[in-house]
Amino acid sequence: MNNPIRQDETHFIQLFGRSQDTMPQQHRNEENVITTAASEYAAPQDLLKGKIILVTGAGAGIGKAAALTFARHGATVILLGRTTEKLETVYDIIEENGWPQAAIYPMNLEGAAIHDYETMAATIEKEFGQLHGLLHNAGLLGKLGPLSQYDPDMWQRVMQVNVNAEFMMTQALLPVMRESGLASILFTTSNVGHKGRANWGAYAVSKFATEGLMQTLADEEEGISQVRVNCINPGRVRTAMRAGAYPGEDPMTLKAPEEIMAAYLYLMGDDSQKVNGQTVNAQ
Ligand SMILES: NC(=O)c1ccc[n+]([C@@H]2O[C@H](COP(=O)([O-])OP(=O)(O)OC[C@H]3O[C@@H](n4cnc5c(N)ncnc54)[C@H](OP(=O)(O)O)[C@@H]3O)[C@@H](O)[C@H]2O)c1
Repeated sequence: MNNPIRQDETHFIQLFGRSQDTMPQQHRNEENVITTAASEYAAPQDLLKGKIILVTGAGAGIGKAAALTFARHGATVILLGRTTEKLETVYDIIEENGWPQAAIYPMNLEGAAIHDYETMAATIEKEFGQLHGLLHNAGLLGKLGPLSQYDPDMWQRVMQVNVNAEFMMTQALLPVMRESGLASILFTTSNVGHKGRANWGAYAVSKFATEGLMQTLADEEEGISQVRVNCINPGRVRTAMRAGAYPGEDPMTLKAPEEIMAAYLYLMGDDSQKVNGQTVNAQ
């Protein structure tokens, strides 16, 4: 990689000037798209052409697959995560494939405060001028166990990453998204985010909170902006987080992140422009 524009040691964005002209063209089949369920959505190759999309937790698991999928469908993806090397790997794959130039934005959501999000919003506004998509994907599982014994410090960490960071980032980025025409904010929920389950502790509570955040914001944006706000529920997916929660499970019985991308594409692309305030299952 070359030409990094560093802001400070922990907080920088890297920008590259590749043209998007190499993206293949394909016309969409509106009839097929509209009648297909989100999990079976057949995305046109150029679905996200010209879109700027920020993905959190873009270095691994579902976030990595989403970032690569969005780039493959024409988006310029801003890769956010806490481990720069992982983000660089994703960046390199995008570059090798000749997809639109990505940007890297390392950030630890656990330690970030509102001024970090304001800096992020100002940087995106300056470098891109618009933001059409925001996938809140980064998440912390924490330790599983009964609430009666749940570590309060772990509770704070999980809520900081899974809820407070989402709120602060969304608040900071909303102005540029409102100015960008059709835009999609997508939060990531879980099965334990709608029905409580023993031992899922702060993680489950954080996903309930995420759904509340999504529904409240969706209702507020309805009719006043072109920003739609929804949740995606990935279901059981073969990732490090899933393995941490179910160490005895055979991962090969689970779908890979790449296999659940249809609904992510549907919710990021303009075919879902009338979908607002919904929780959509990816499988
Ligand atoms: N996998 C499933 O079965 C499943 C089911 C339901 C919901 N989900 C949800 O799907 C989303 C993605 O999960 P996953 O399974 O792909 O998990 P994963 O493989 O553990 O990936 C989580 C990602 O979040 C990033 N992250 C964690 N803490 C962070 C922090 N403090 N700052 C910045 N980035 C941070 C990680 O970065 P590093 O790699 O640098 O640590 C990683 O890229 C999560 O919201 C999760 O709750 C997953």
